[in-house]
Amino acid sequence: MRVKTQYVCQSCGYQAAKWHGRCPGCGSWNSMVEEIIPPTHEVGRRLEKDASDAPRPLDLSTLTERPEAFRRIPSGISEWDRVLGGGLVPGSLILIGGEPGVGKSTLVMQVALRYAGQGETVLYVSGEESVEQVGLRARRLGGDEKSFYLLSESRLEHIADVARKLHVRVLIIDSIQTMRHPDITSAPGSVAQVREGTTFLLDFAKTSGVATLIVGHVTKSGDIAGPRMLEHMVDTVLYFEGDRDHFYRLLRAMKNRFGSTYELGVFEMQDRGLIPHETPGELFLRERQEESIGSAVLVTIEGTRPFLLEIQALLVPSLYPAPRRTASGYDLNRLHMLLAVLEKKAGLHLMGQDAYVNVVGGMRIGEPAGDLATALAIASSFRERPLSARDVYLGEIGLTGEVRQIPRLLERLKEAQSRGFRRALVPPKGDRVLEQGGEKHISLEVVPVQTIQEALMVAFAY
Ligand code: TYD
Ligand code: MG
Repeated sequence: MRVKTQYVCQSCGYQAAKWHGRCPGCGSWNSMVEEIIPPTHEVGRRLEKDASDAPRPLDLSTLTERPEAFRRIPSGISEWDRVLGGGLVPGSLILIGGEPGVGKSTLVMQVALRYAGQGETVLYVSGEESVEQVGLRARRLGGDEKSFYLLSESRLEHIADVARKLHVRVLIIDSIQTMRHPDITSAPGSVAQVREGTTFLLDFAKTSGVATLIVGHVTKSGDIAGPRMLEHMVDTVLYFEGDRDHFYRLLRAMKNRFGSTYELGVFEMQDRGLIPHETPGELFLRERQEESIGSAVLVTIEGTRPFLLEIQALLVPSLYPAPRRTASGYDLNRLHMLLAVLEKKAGLHLMGQDAYVNVVGGMRIGEPAGDLATALAIASSFRERPLSARDVYLGEIGLTGEVRQIPRLLERLKEAQSRGFRRALVPPKGDRVLEQGGEKHISLEVVPVQTIQEALMVAFAY
């Protein structure tokens, strides 16, 4: 039986039998989206449910320690498993979003090949490429696994049939924007298709117990038919990011019903696919030149691991009354704040300067612990004097120019020491952290600084 559909305005809820470019109810443009009308007998049946049909609540005391449903399937790709919180949970629905070309298909293919290599039956469905194309990619990535099936198909009901017949454990849909729900007439990629298609797959995953991965394209502008509106429907949302001009790719969990959203997965894109980096500590410093003007190193913490990052600043006299300030990988408001503090508290005349700040390698610094390094990189460019290549700078800067405490200083210092850095500028009272942390051999000189002025003096007097 064919299901009926209607068009519903996403801002006011106005319903119509046909599509309107402008909602007759509230006047919004392009807000009408096709939706399925549930058959009336089904609604009636739901209301009449008798007691035997009613859902059964769980008595918490009877819950076994590790219910079978939550047994995880690790892939063996460390960074993937880390971000998922140990592995794939059977019956879960996972969305992997990212910009076109970032490497989503490559990532899911590599993961899928690993699962197949462990004897799990995997179905990889592509709505974008032919099976030959996908097969060639799999071969190039070193795959010749047995229980690995490829399908080029966009009709979801057929995909579900094939998956059931093959008794798959892992299903991959690449991508949701190319899939077609049997009851929706709008084009693939439209809001209605993407949403109803995901609902269909959610139902499939929950009833079959198949771990289902959905690839979704996101554009920089946050496309309306993009995966963002799916975030609340799925169990886990992963974002794969990284500049196409850089080799690094970062996998972050935005939402995870079965684990934390704390961990970051680090990969590198090479000719033969993505290489996971389990100890990325120094990865982002690889291209760094010793002693360059406007460059400073800091240790940031992402998830459980410390990373060394290089921050660069460039200051040039501005040709305009309102100077340009640009930050990439760094919060622009924090940059404005640092420039103001340097001007007022450290006497640097930055008012007429254009300022550019960049975190190297396409990384982001999302914590104030990067303030001190950024301020020193700015001062270095402004004064045309390099900082020591063997220094790291750790600390938040307050509005009065004071250097403030940061979390997990010991881990950061240990990382800097193990990578051969000689000196660290840290917030007040930070000098004994290494001893107190039980470090036996201390090769890192740890210098506490009270204010940004003091930091400038110490940093440039080496
Ligand atoms: P792809 O996984 O197709 O991206 P997405 O599915 O997110 O659109 O891969 C994107 C780019 O990665 C592509 O331009 C080629 C490159 N690439 C490599 O550098 N090495 C490889 O082994 C593969 C498979 C792809
Ligand atoms: Mg792709």
